[in-house]
Amino acid sequence: MKLSFLLVLLMALPGAVHAQDGVKRDDHQMHRLHSDPKAYIGALEDPKRDAYQKPHEVIHTLNLKSGEVIADIGAGSGYFTFHLARHIGEKGKAYAVDVSPDMILHVNRRIRELKTNNVVTVLADPDDPLLPDRLVNRFFFSDSWHHIENQTKYLSLMKKMLKPRGEVVIIDFHKKELPFGPPMQMKIAREDLIKQFDSNGYRLTKEHTFLPYQYFLVFVPH
Ligand SMILES: C[S@@+](CC[C@H](N)C(=O)[O-])C[C@H]1O[C@@H](n2cnc3c(N)ncnc32)[C@H](O)[C@@H]1O
Repeated sequence: MKLSFLLVLLMALPGAVHAQDGVKRDDHQMHRLHSDPKAYIGALEDPKRDAYQKPHEVIHTLNLKSGEVIADIGAGSGYFTFHLARHIGEKGKAYAVDVSPDMILHVNRRIRELKTNNVVTVLADPDDPLLPDRLVNRFFFSDSWHHIENQTKYLSLMKKMLKPRGEVVIIDFHKKELPFGPPMQMKIAREDLIKQFDSNGYRLTKEHTFLPYQYFLVFVPH
């Protein structure tokens, strides 16, 4: 099915929540979108997304260092991965971690097309990013923490995988009606996320508030 046709079809159906591209979809339609990799990649890469996702401001705010190792968990199409990779230099490494073989294939193709030499893909387990211990300066989750099922296990694994003074960055949708984002029942309220991290040994160190629909939080292990 052609992407344009699929999106028109999805827009025509009733009972709406909204994905990253602003197209209204109910749960069933969201499920279909997630099972159609081409359409999902199209939604993640939709240029309209930049207006609220503000990738350049996000990257600027991270103040990335040359030589950093960053793990983009739930990297999807690589929307953020390639921006991140450009700011960590040739000695840095950006791991694009995802559970979807289709997304990993797509990122692999982009690596070849863009001749990028500091992005590495990892086809991960749903409850384990499969990275070595003491490797990562920053874990980066954009619209992906709410997808992790065993978050407690993830929080414990990340502590081992972080280098000393390493950080976990979480960008995700506020739990309220918004023109974009996952269904309400998948969203995690900012306050609940901070409590969850706190009770699993992480302290909130920074918060950035320029994104209109998402919280942008930075944690370090206690
Ligand atoms: C909404 S997309 C976000 C993609 C990207 N971070 C972005 O901002 O464009 C969520 C991604 O998380 C991936 N994902 C879902 N569950 C995951 C898990 N347990 N571990 C790693 N990735 C996961 C999905 O395959 C999908 O590519």
